[in-house]
Amino acid sequence: LTAGPTFEAIDPVRGITNLSSGKMGFAIARAATEAGAAVTLVAGPVALATPAGVTRIDVKSARQMHDAVLPLAASHDVFIATAAVADWRPADAAEHKIKKAPGQGAPALLLVENPDILAAVAVLPKRPYCVGFAAESHEVEQHARAKLVRKNVPLIVGNLGPATFGQDHNALLLVDAVGTRALPHADKLTLARQLVAEISSRLNA
Ligand code: CTP
Repeated sequence: LTAGPTFEAIDPVRGITNLSSGKMGFAIARAATEAGAAVTLVAGPVALATPAGVTRIDVKSARQMHDAVLPLAASHDVFIATAAVADWRPADAAEHKIKKAPGQGAPALLLVENPDILAAVAVLPKRPYCVGFAAESHEVEQHARAKLVRKNVPLIVGNLGPATFGQDHNALLLVDAVGTRALPHADKLTLARQLVAEISSRLNA
């Protein structure tokens, strides 16, 4: 499982990140452990306690998350990519804090693309069952369906990012090649348990 945001350094004191709290991913880690799974949770910078029984690896950046996940992925049966991975990072993080030079305006930030962790796991020869998330601001189903195809995974879980980031509640849309199933508004642990049950029934089918 991946969870939380990533943090992409601009300099030693600044960076680019997003509003993901990690709560949904941590709830899934807890629900999966409760269901009997051995869970490895690769977490971006979040202020959350590790659920009992979960093996946690803390990372900061997307590249660190990628490097933590890839060697472990093939030895797991399921990969759930809950993290809101930063799509881009500053091309060169400054070694020292960038100082404001009066009258010189703002520095230009050149961004480069981060590796797509889910897509990288999905092309492994011994790939786990891959579940992606789509945190959208609008048209959740259409975007989730596009990601299903683009990332070549069997299941995408859509949700409204701005409505759920940091909250204890969410609503999920399970999108696969066959159709769409809504898991209505509930607390994140309830939704996590429903999602784990769904994944488990797919594995046993
Ligand atoms: N993801 C990932 N690595 C990335 C970007 C995304 O593993 N570098 C995963 C997320 O964890 C999520 C899924 O891919 O499970 C979709 O992420 P999202 O950011 O919604 O999709 P993107 O492909 O980045 O598309 P966009 O930002 O344009 O919506």
